[in-house]
Amino acid sequence: MSADIAADVRSGLLSVPKALPPHLFYDDEGSALYERITELPEYYLTRAEREILEAHATEIVALAADGLDGALTIVELGAGSASKTEVLLRALVARQGHGSYVPIDVSPAAIDHARRRLGAVLPEVRVTPLITTHEEALRTLKRHAGPGSLVLFIGSSVGNFEDHEASAILRGVGDALGPGTCLLLGTDLRKSPDVLVRAYDDDAGVTAAFNKNLLRRINRELGGHFDLERFRHVARWNEAASRIEMHLESTVMQEVAIDRLLLCPRFEAGETIHTESSIKYDLPRVRALLGIAGFRLDHTFHDQARRFALHLARAL
Ligand code: TRP
Repeated sequence: MSADIAADVRSGLLSVPKALPPHLFYDDEGSALYERITELPEYYLTRAEREILEAHATEIVALAADGLDGALTIVELGAGSASKTEVLLRALVARQGHGSYVPIDVSPAAIDHARRRLGAVLPEVRVTPLITTHEEALRTLKRHAGPGSLVLFIGSSVGNFEDHEASAILRGVGDALGPGTCLLLGTDLRKSPDVLVRAYDDDAGVTAAFNKNLLRRINRELGGHFDLERFRHVARWNEAASRIEMHLESTVMQEVAIDRLLLCPRFEAGETIHTESSIKYDLPRVRALLGIAGFRLDHTFHDQARRFALHLARAL
C-alpha cells in the first residue's frame, strides 16, 4: 500500500495548489475516525441516509430485481463498516432467501469488521470483499458480478469527486457490468452553509482529527516530519462550486521533510493543502452527472427533512 500512497502524496504535494486525493484518508485509523464522524450530532448525513434506506429498502431491492431471471447481487463502492448496507441486505434476503454482497474498500480492517458482523447477523449472505480503490476495482468487478447487480455508491462519497471524475467512475461501473445494471447513488443536498460547515467542523474535533490523520499517515508510512500542531483543520463553503472544502492550513512558514520521498515541500504561513471536497447537489446536477455516465435516473428518495437523497438509476 505504501508504494501506491507514495506516488499520490508526491504528486499532490508538488501540485499548485497542494491537494491530496480522498482515498488516502481511509487507512485503518482514518476509517475508524470516519465511523466516529458518522455518529456526531452535527453530521446529519448518515442518519438521513439510514432513514431513507429504512423507509425504502424493500422497494429499492424490488425495483433493482425487477425483470431479472436470477438472483440480485449487491456491490458497494467504499463499503466501510457497511452498517447502513445491512438494511438493504435484509431486504435482499427477505426477497430471495439468500444473496451475494461484494464490498469494495481500501481499508482491510473496515472490510474485515463488516464481514464478521454480517456473518453473524446475516449468514444467508455470501460476502466477497475486494480490498482496493474504486479505479482498480472496476477492472476486476466483472469477475464477481454481472448485469444482475445493484451497485451502491452511497454515504455521499460521489461528492468527494469532481463531476467529470464521478461520471468516469460511474461510466466504468456501467461498462464493467453492462446495460440494465442498477445504481443506488447517495447525494447530500444544498442547504444552509451554517449547517454544512458544522457537519465538517464538529465541536468535539473528530473531523479535525480525521483530516490531520492524513499527515500522521504520511509520517507513519513515508517517514514524514509533519508537526500536527503547525497545521489547522479548515472547513469552508465554496458557493460557486456548491461544495464544502476541507483544507489543512499551515499556521507558519515551514519546510517539512518526507524522508522516503526525498522531498521537502515548503509551506507559506496560511497556505493550505486541499484534502477533500464534498459537493452538495441539486437534482439537475445529479441528472446531468448520471446522463454523462450513461445512466437513466428512475427514482429519487428523500428523508423527511429533505436533507439527503438516494437516486436509483439504470445503465443504458
Ligand atoms: N463522504 C463523506 C462526506 O463527504 C466523507 C467525509 C465526511 C469527510 N467528513 C469528512 C471527508 C471530513 C473528509 C473530511 O461527507
